[in-house]
Amino acid sequence: TPIAAVIPAAGRGVRLGPGAPKALRALNGTPMLIHAVRAMAASRAVSLVIVVAPPDGAAEVKSLLDAHALPERTDFLVVPGGETRQESVRLGLDALPPEYEIVLVHDAARPLVPVETVDAVIEAVREGAPAVVPALPLADTVKEVEPAAEADQPEPVVATPDRARLRAVQTPQGFDRGTLIRAHETVTDNVTDDASMVEQLGLRVVVVPGHAEAFKVTRPLDLVLAEAVLARRRL
Ligand code: C5P
Repeated sequence: TPIAAVIPAAGRGVRLGPGAPKALRALNGTPMLIHAVRAMAASRAVSLVIVVAPPDGAAEVKSLLDAHALPERTDFLVVPGGETRQESVRLGLDALPPEYEIVLVHDAARPLVPVETVDAVIEAVREGAPAVVPALPLADTVKEVEPAAEADQPEPVVATPDRARLRAVQTPQGFDRGTLIRAHETVTDNVTDDASMVEQLGLRVVVVPGHAEAFKVTRPLDLVLAEAVLARRRL
């Protein structure tokens, strides 16, 4: 069965500092989005990549894809995105042709995910899981806090969840097509990942091992790390 990847790339990247939309910023001379597209197309199972561009940037993204070498066995579509990540993913799913029974959703902001992780996610969906997420154990202990009443006051700690049972979740997340579409039709709360919408439907979501290089480029220091990883790969 053919597999499609939807790449939401419509975020502004405010936490990265001023500049172009995050996905269009360069890592070692190549836009982050192009790295992310290549990471999905690196899997031989992926035959379509749908890029969700900034709402006013679809033409620019199309010419970027044309200007960079991409595998010939993969098709590419570009659609304009929305106000939230969730809306952007839904707009990407609207463009998904019916023959794709398995769909990956991958953040443009995780440009360096290795193909082994992509293939592990695909494999678990093929084996029957309706939703699959790659994830890693946490290095830090995590505390739940009560947001402070005033901005300059310290925040009281409410709880310390058992770290051994926590996982930091990455992308690509993999789905049975019908499940993901139903989740996007049903769940309206604002969520930060697609799998949590499937959890809200009461369906089984499973975790496969993630990868350190699938980290999300969010803050300025992440750019330094990403460029160092690319230099080591000689890209
Ligand atoms: O903001 P955050 O880092 O969670 O964004 C994750 C991904 O979602 C990024 O690749 C970003 O471009 C995308 N996004 C989007 N549309 C939005 C907001 C974020 O496609 N409105």
